[in-house]
Amino acid sequence: MDSILVRGNGALSGAIPIAGAKNACLTLMPATLLSDEPLTLTNAPRLSDIATMTQLLQSLGAEVAALADGQVLAMSSHKISNHTADYDIVRKMRASILVLGPMLARDGHAVVSLPGGCAIGARPVDLHLMALEAMGAELDLRDGYVHAKAIGGKLKGAVVDFPFVSVGATENALMAATLAKGTTVIKNAAREPEIVDLAQCLRKMGAQIEGEGTATITIQGVDRLHGATHPVVTDRIELGTYMLVPAICGGEVECIGGRLDLVGAFAERLDAAGVSVTETARGLKVSRKNGRINAVNVMTAPFPGFPTDLQAQMMALLCTADGVSVLEERIFENRFMHAPELTRMGAKIEVHGGTAKVTGVSKLKGARVMATDLRASVSLILAALAAEGETVVSRVYHLDRGYERVEEKLRACGAQIERIKA
Ligand code: EPZ
Repeated sequence: MDSILVRGNGALSGAIPIAGAKNACLTLMPATLLSDEPLTLTNAPRLSDIATMTQLLQSLGAEVAALADGQVLAMSSHKISNHTADYDIVRKMRASILVLGPMLARDGHAVVSLPGGCAIGARPVDLHLMALEAMGAELDLRDGYVHAKAIGGKLKGAVVDFPFVSVGATENALMAATLAKGTTVIKNAAREPEIVDLAQCLRKMGAQIEGEGTATITIQGVDRLHGATHPVVTDRIELGTYMLVPAICGGEVECIGGRLDLVGAFAERLDAAGVSVTETARGLKVSRKNGRINAVNVMTAPFPGFPTDLQAQMMALLCTADGVSVLEERIFENRFMHAPELTRMGAKIEVHGGTAKVTGVSKLKGARVMATDLRASVSLILAALAAEGETVVSRVYHLDRGYERVEEKLRACGAQIERIKA
C-alpha cells in the first residue's frame, strides 16, 4: 500500500485545476443502462472509483471506453446481458447500488448485492428500496442480495416521500422514474448539484423532469430514452478541499473551474474564519484576509448546507485557528476518524458522539498517520502541508478514490509532497 510523504513548506501559491465531480460521475454512468443508445460523458475525473464503476457496468454487458486519457467515457448498453451486480465489485464501492434503479426501469428485473457498511457508518439502503417498492418493485432480500422485479414487468409512477434526505436514494428513484409508466413525485428530494447534473443529463436523453435542485422533483415517465453527450459538473468537494490549501498554509491559490454557487455554505464558513474567496474569470481565488484564522462552528447538513464531505478538511484548518471551534457531524454516525490522527500531529480535539470540539494550537507537528477513509485522508494531507517537519500518510488508496493527481496539483503550488510506492 502506497504512502505519501509531505514536508511542511510554508505558504503555497499557484493555480489548481478542479476535475469533474466523482459523485456526479458515479450516478451519471449507471444512466447508460436506461438507453440502448450511446451516452458519452466529458470532463470525467480519473479516479479508482470511476474504474470500479466501469468494471461493474461492463460486467452487466455495457460497453465503456475511457478516451482522452480517461476524461471522456464513451458508454453504450444495447442490451443488459447480465442483471446481477456481484458482491465482489459492490463491496468495493457503495455507489454500485445505483445500477438497481436503471436496470429495473429498463428490463423490469435486477439482482444487486447489498453494499454493506463502510468506515463512516452503516449506510443502509432502505430508502432506495422504499422508493422502488413505491414504484411497483417486488424486493426479496436474501443471501446478501436484493432480488428485484417490477410487478407486471414495468415500474409505475408513484409519490415517493423520503423521511429524510438521501442523495443516493434520490438518484435511484429519479433514474427509475424516467421510464416508469405515469408520473412520479419525489418529495424531500436531495438538492445536491450532482442531482441537478443527473437531471440535466437525463433530460438530454429525453426524460421529462421538473424541479431538480428543489425538495420536490416531478418526473413524467417516457417509453424510451435516447443517447446524449454530457459534461460532468465540477467537483465541489475537490474544489473545497483545495480552497483550504491557502487557508491552512497561507499564500494564494486560484482554483480553475471553481464556481461559488457549488460551495456557498462552505465559502461562508471560510469567510467567517478569515479567508477571502473571490470569483475570477477562471474560477475562485482564495487567500487569508489578514494572516490569522478565527475559530468557527460548523454543522454539516444536506445541500445547500455545509457538506459532510468537507467536514474533515475543515477540521484540519480549525486545528490551528485562534480559539475553540465546534464541529457537528449530522449526516454520518462515525465521521471523525481523522481526529485521532490529527491529534498525533499535536491537535487538541475532543470528540463526543457527533460533536468534535477543536481547541486551536499554534502549529501542528509532522508525524506518521494513517488514512481511514477518503475525506479523512485528504484532511491529513492538508494538515501535513502546514505542519512543522515531515508527515507520512499511509493507506493512501483511500485518497486515490476521490482525488486525481494530488501530488502533481499540490507540487504546482510549491508543496513538498511525494508518493512512496509500497
Ligand atoms: C452520497 O452518499 C455521497 N456519495 C457521499 O460522498 C456523501 O457523503 C453523501 O451523499 C451525503 O452528501 C456518492 O454520491 C457516491 P445519503 P449517499 O444517502 O448517497 C442515511 C464521499 O466522500 N441513509 O445522502 O450514500 C446514510 O446512512 C462520499 O464522496 C439511510 O439511512 O448518502 C447517511 O447517514 C462519502 N438509508 C444519510 O442517510 C438510505 O437508504 C445520508 O446518506 C440511504 C441513506
